[in-house]
Amino acid sequence: NCSCPCDANRYHRGISMIGSINHIAIAVHDLGVASAQWRERVGAVVSAPQRLQKHGVKVVFIAASNGKVELLEPLDDKSPIAKFLERNPDGGLHHICFDVPDLIASRDQLLATGARILGSPDPEIGAHGKPVLFIHPKDLTGSLIELQQA
Ligand code: CO
Repeated sequence: NCSCPCDANRYHRGISMIGSINHIAIAVHDLGVASAQWRERVGAVVSAPQRLQKHGVKVVFIAASNGKVELLEPLDDKSPIAKFLERNPDGGLHHICFDVPDLIASRDQLLATGARILGSPDPEIGAHGKPVLFIHPKDLTGSLIELQQA
C-alpha cells in the first residue's frame, strides 16, 4: 500500500477519458429555427445540415475557438432526440463528447467499472466519421457522455 494519496489515486483511476472536449450537443425541434437564432443572436458560424440516418438525427455544427457546438434535430418520432424533446420541450443540453486516444480501451475500462454502454458495445461511426460510443447516463451523474476515437 502506498501512503501517498496522489499515487494511489493515479493507480486506481486507470485510463483518463477526460482530454479535449470535441463537442457539446444541444437538442432542438427545428434546425432551421435554431441555426437562425445562433447566427442572428450570438453571431455563430453554422455549418450546412448533415443527415445521420443511423443515429436518427440531422445535425449542424457551430465552431467555437476551442471546440464545437452540435445542434441535433430528430429525424422522426423514434429518434432518441424526440424522446429527449418530450421531456425538454424548449430543447436543451443533450450530451458532451470527449476525444479519447483508444476507444476500445476506454470501453473495456468502463465495462470493468460496471458502467453500461448505450446500444451495442461495438462503437459506431458518429457525426465526424469516427467511431463513437455513449455511456449510460444513469452510470455517470445523470448526464450523457459520448466518447470519440481521436
Ligand atoms: Co455527439
